[in-house]
Amino acid sequence: MPKCTYYTHSFVTANMPFVTSPLLICQAMKILVTGGAGFIGSHTVVSLSEAGFTPVILDNFSNSNPEVLAGLEAILGYPVIFYEGDCNDSGIYSRIFTEHEIGSIIHFAAYKAVGESMEQPLKYYRNNLGSLLALLDSMQQHGAGNLIFSSSCTVYGEPDQVPVTENTPVKPASSVYGNTKQIGEEILQDVASSLPFSIISLRYFNPVGAHPSGLIGELPIGVPNNLVPFVTQTAAGIREVITIFGNDYPTPDGTCIRDYIHVMDLAEAHVAALNHLLKVKREKYYDVFNVGTGTGNSVLEVVNTFDQVNNMHVAHQFGPRRSGDVIAVWGNVDKSAEVLGWKASRSLAQALKDAWNWQNRLPKP
Ligand code: WQD
Repeated sequence: MPKCTYYTHSFVTANMPFVTSPLLICQAMKILVTGGAGFIGSHTVVSLSEAGFTPVILDNFSNSNPEVLAGLEAILGYPVIFYEGDCNDSGIYSRIFTEHEIGSIIHFAAYKAVGESMEQPLKYYRNNLGSLLALLDSMQQHGAGNLIFSSSCTVYGEPDQVPVTENTPVKPASSVYGNTKQIGEEILQDVASSLPFSIISLRYFNPVGAHPSGLIGELPIGVPNNLVPFVTQTAAGIREVITIFGNDYPTPDGTCIRDYIHVMDLAEAHVAALNHLLKVKREKYYDVFNVGTGTGNSVLEVVNTFDQVNNMHVAHQFGPRRSGDVIAVWGNVDKSAEVLGWKASRSLAQALKDAWNWQNRLPKP
C-alpha cells in the first residue's frame, strides 16, 4: 500500500488516510506535481503555491532528498501534501486522484543524466516513458485532462541556426535521455489529437540557480554532471578544479554556449503555462513552448561571471571536449511571451549568486 505521508514541521510519517493539519490547506485548485521533490519540481511547487494553487507532490526520492520537503515547508509555511511512490505505479495515481480533486498535472518525474542514459537505455525508456504512459492511463480513467510535460532543448540536437524557435526541426536525439523527451512529445501530441486532453510541453534550456532563501536548490547525487553545481562545489572546496570541456569550438571564446535560465523563472513559466491551459479550456489541445532567457552564454562566461558576482576565483582548467555536447543552443522565447505572457526576468549573475548562497548553506561533506 503506497504511503500517504503528510509532512509537518517535524517529519510525521504515518500511514494515515488523513491528517488534521494545524494549518488546513486552503481549498485552492490542487495540482499534482510528479517529481515535485526534485530540483525544478520543488521550485515549481513554490511558484504554484505563491500563485494560489495547492501542490500535491508525488516523488520516490530516486533523484531527490526528503530534506527538500522540509525546505518547502519552511518556504511555504504549511505542511506539504506528499505521496511517496513510483511514477510507474498506476495504483499511486489512482489513490491520489481518489483522495484529491486534481485540477491539473505537471509531470517532472524522469531520469535525466545524459551519460547514464547511454549506459542504461532500458532503465531510461522504461522509467521516462513508462511513467508517462501510466500517468496518461490514470488521467483518462479519472477524467483528468490538463497536463504540462517537462521536455528539453535537447530535442533540437545541434541546431543549424540559433536561436531555436519551436518550429526549428527536431533532430535525431544524440542521447537516450533526449530521445525519451522526443518520444514523450510525440506520444502527447497523438494523445491530445484524439482524446480529451489539454497538454503543453515545455522545452527547458539550462536551469541554474536556487530559491533566494537558500532553503531549496540543486542537489546532484555524486559528482555533478552539470556545469553550475560543479562550479559551486569547486568554489566550496568539494572539487579541486572545474574542467571546461573543450575550448576549441567555433565560438567567440572557444567554449560551448547555452541558455542558462534561473530555476525560479522556469518555475514561474509552469504557472503561466498552467493558467493558459485553464484559460483555453479546450479538449484535444497540444502546444509546445521554449522556456529560456533568449540569450546564450559560454561556459567560460559562466565561470567568470560566478567569480565576479561572488568575489571569488574558481580554479578551472581546459580539457578535451565531452562527447554528446552541442556547440551552441539557445532559445527564441517570443512565443512564450506572446501566448503565455511569460518572460524570464532574472539574470545569469543573480542565478549564480543564488546558486552560491544555496551551496554555502549545504552541510560540508
Ligand atoms: C553545459 C556546458 C559542458 C560540466 C544537460 C541536459 C539538458 C538539461 C541540462 C535536463 C556544456 C560544460 C559541464 C563540467 C563543463 N537537463 N561543462 N564542465 O549538457 O547543456 O544539458 O543538462 O533537463 O537536457 O542535456 O548541461 O550543465 O551538463 O553542460 O565544461 O564539469 O558546460 O561541456 O558545454 P547540458 P551541462
